[in-house]
Amino acid sequence: MSIAATFSSPAPASDFSGEPLLEVQNLRVSFGKLQVVDGISFTLRQGEVLGIVGESGSGKSVSALALLRLLPPNAQVTADRLMLGGEDLLSAKESRYESLRGSQIAMIFQEPMTALNPVLSVGHQIVETIRRHNKVGRREARDRAVAALRRVGIPAAEQRFNEYPHQMSGGMRQRVMIAMALACGPRVLIADEPTTALDVTIQAQILELLQDLQDEYQMGTIMITHDLGVVSSFADRVLVMYAGQVVEDAPAAELFARPGHPYTEGLLASIPSSLQDVERLYAIPGSVPPPFDLPSGCRFEPRCTYSRPPCRAARPWLMPFQPHHEAACIRNHGYHFPASEEVAP
Ligand SMILES: Nc1ncnc2c1ncn2[C@@H]1O[C@H](COP(=O)(O)OP(=O)(O)OP(=O)(O)O)[C@@H](O)[C@H]1O
Ligand SMILES: [Mg+2]
Repeated sequence: MSIAATFSSPAPASDFSGEPLLEVQNLRVSFGKLQVVDGISFTLRQGEVLGIVGESGSGKSVSALALLRLLPPNAQVTADRLMLGGEDLLSAKESRYESLRGSQIAMIFQEPMTALNPVLSVGHQIVETIRRHNKVGRREARDRAVAALRRVGIPAAEQRFNEYPHQMSGGMRQRVMIAMALACGPRVLIADEPTTALDVTIQAQILELLQDLQDEYQMGTIMITHDLGVVSSFADRVLVMYAGQVVEDAPAAELFARPGHPYTEGLLASIPSSLQDVERLYAIPGSVPPPFDLPSGCRFEPRCTYSRPPCRAARPWLMPFQPHHEAACIRNHGYHFPASEEVAP
């Protein structure tokens, strides 16, 4: 059994100019009166990795779960447009969503223990996923599951097929999650903090595995993380989220070279450049405001070293800053602070 038959057939390398795989326009999510995602938009193409970055509580997971229609019933989700490979997700029935999840769009969760069933062997869970979406017999599904476990670097895959999640280390469980997510060859993969729960050496191994799989299968991948270091090595394009809004949208290299939003500048300054730097690392003062206490103007203003009275007056919208690069800061809206007012962060 070839590995290519296990996951999707490898697609040709893409320059991201093809048809969009996933189009999201003005996605909003509220829980009752609390709006936690306020109008995010992006387009994901085949072979492209989109990084979504932001501190805890900025709305990254809620946005991802909304795309998969996996939020609890008290969530209200709206969007102007939500298309997966040309199919309108807004009008998709629940039964259609069930068949899309796993086969077309799959997710890797931060904590595999919550996503894996503790009372079923890992092999059984992958077999079930394969059989839910493919007309294949038990034997064939089992062979595919073993090949999938092998492909994600699980040693002695035949034996480990019969193990339960609690018998595995965190790193091995995350590999199982990846095998399960990719078992049916989804075109879109959402990885929500796939390495946060793991220790540093294992994090690096899992990222390397994800990079290998991405190179081989050329999915459209959304990599959610609070760690800009992860997106620097992995993402082609980055959305920076703050308090439910996108504050910057740029090609990864461009974001690192010319951040257009003070929040991104702060995140960049918080990346240690060497182990020695960790002790005197910069941290953005304050924390993300909760959804029930949002500033009416720029949501980052209370923490911003560039803050000026106009920042409190109105919400700054995403505006072109460089080619293919937008940021939501009035410094890019034609508002020039007098030189004497400029304060370095
Ligand atoms: N089921 C829910 N009901 C009410 N509020 C919720 C619910 N789920 C999430 N929220 C709120 O939505 C906001 C965004 O949460 P989300 O989990 O998307 O953050 P995140 O960016 O993924 O953070 P983290 O980095 O901690 O994972 C938070 O204020 C959170 O408290
Ligand atoms: Mg999250």
